[in-house]
Amino acid sequence: MGEHKRIGILTSGGDCAGLNAVIRAVTHRAVGSYNWEVLGILRATYGLMHHPPQAMKLDREKVIRALTNAGTMLGTTNKGDPFAFPMPDGTVRDRSEEIIAGYHELGLDALIGIGGDGSLAILRKLAQQGNINFVGIPKTIDNDVGITEHSIGFDTAVNIATEALDRLHFTAASHDRVMILEVMGRDAGHIAISAGIAGGADIILIPEISYSIDNVCRKIKELQEQGQNFCIVVVSEAVCTEAGDKVECLVSFGERRYGGIGHYLAESISAASGAETRVTVLGHTQRGGTPSPLDRLIASAFGVAAVDLIANEEYDRMVTWQNRQVMSVPIAEAISQYQAVDPKGTLVKTARGLGICLGD
Ligand code: F6P
Repeated sequence: MGEHKRIGILTSGGDCAGLNAVIRAVTHRAVGSYNWEVLGILRATYGLMHHPPQAMKLDREKVIRALTNAGTMLGTTNKGDPFAFPMPDGTVRDRSEEIIAGYHELGLDALIGIGGDGSLAILRKLAQQGNINFVGIPKTIDNDVGITEHSIGFDTAVNIATEALDRLHFTAASHDRVMILEVMGRDAGHIAISAGIAGGADIILIPEISYSIDNVCRKIKELQEQGQNFCIVVVSEAVCTEAGDKVECLVSFGERRYGGIGHYLAESISAASGAETRVTVLGHTQRGGTPSPLDRLIASAFGVAAVDLIANEEYDRMVTWQNRQVMSVPIAEAISQYQAVDPKGTLVKTARGLGICLGD
C-alpha cells in the first residue's frame, strides 16, 4: 500500500465541464484506495499565496455530487501569472516563492494541477523551482494541449455547439438566412471543425485554414442553386479578417479577448452577396452545462491515473489519452507541442469529403 501521503489538488485557467469529476476521481482513488489525505486548494495558485494557505479537506462526502456538476468546486483563475503578478499599485511582482511556501506549509507530498498548456507551464516552473512533486491533468475546451487526444471539457463544448447548430438549422430555413455561429477555441479550430461536421454546417472557418469572402459567397450561391435557401456557417473565434487582422474585444480591466469575427463575417457576407445574415455568439455557455459522458469518463480515468503516478513517485508528468488508453508523458513534452487542427488531418478531409466549404 506504500506510505501515507497528503496530496493537494487545484484547478487552474478557464473552467470547463468535467473538472469536478476529476476532483471526485482523485479523492476516491487517493482516499478510498490509498487512504491518503487530499486537500483541495482554492482558486488555483491564489490559495497557496495566502497565509495561511486556503485549502479544504476532500473526502467522499464532499465530492458526492461532483460527477455531474460543471464549473470547479475549488474555484480557478486565468489571470495573475505568479512570476509577473499584477499588484494593486500597478507594479508587477514575482510571487512564486510565496506559492512554494504555501505548498510546503500545507505539508503536501505532491500536487495535482488540472490546467491547459499555459497553466501547466506555470505550475511546472513553480514545481521545478520549489521542489514540488507535480503531476498534470490536461483540461481545456480548446483541446489544444499537445500529445493527448482528449482534454477534459472539449467533448461537452462540442456537444453544446452541435446542439446550437441543430437549433439554428430550423430558424435559418424558416427565414432563408445565413446563420453564423461563433465558437470558442482560442487559437485552434477544434470546436468549430468538430461541431461543424457533427452539426451539419455548410461552411466551417478555422484559424488553421485561410479563407476568402468570395469563396464563402460562392458556396452560399451554390446552395441556393441546389434549392437550399439558407446556410449554416461555423466560425472559430480566432479566425482573422480577410486582411489578416485579429478580431478582439475589450473585456474588463482593459484585457482583450477574441470576439467579433461572427459580426465581421455577417456584414461582409451580406455586403458581398445580398444575403440576410444573423450571428449567434456561443461564448461561455460552451464551458458550462452537465459534463458529457465522455468528459466524465476521461475525467475519471485521468484522476485515477494521476493518483497512481504519485503512488509510483513518477513526477513532472502529465496524464494523456492516446490510442484508447491513459498514458503519461513528461509535461515539458506535452506543452512544447501545441495542438492545432491539422489541415491535412481526418476531420478536414471529412469536411471536404462532405462538400463543406472551408473557405479556401
Ligand atoms: O481557453 C478557454 C477559453 O474559453 C477560450 O476558448 C476563450 O478564448 C477564453 O478561454 C475566454 O477566456 P475568459 O474566460 O477569460 O473570457
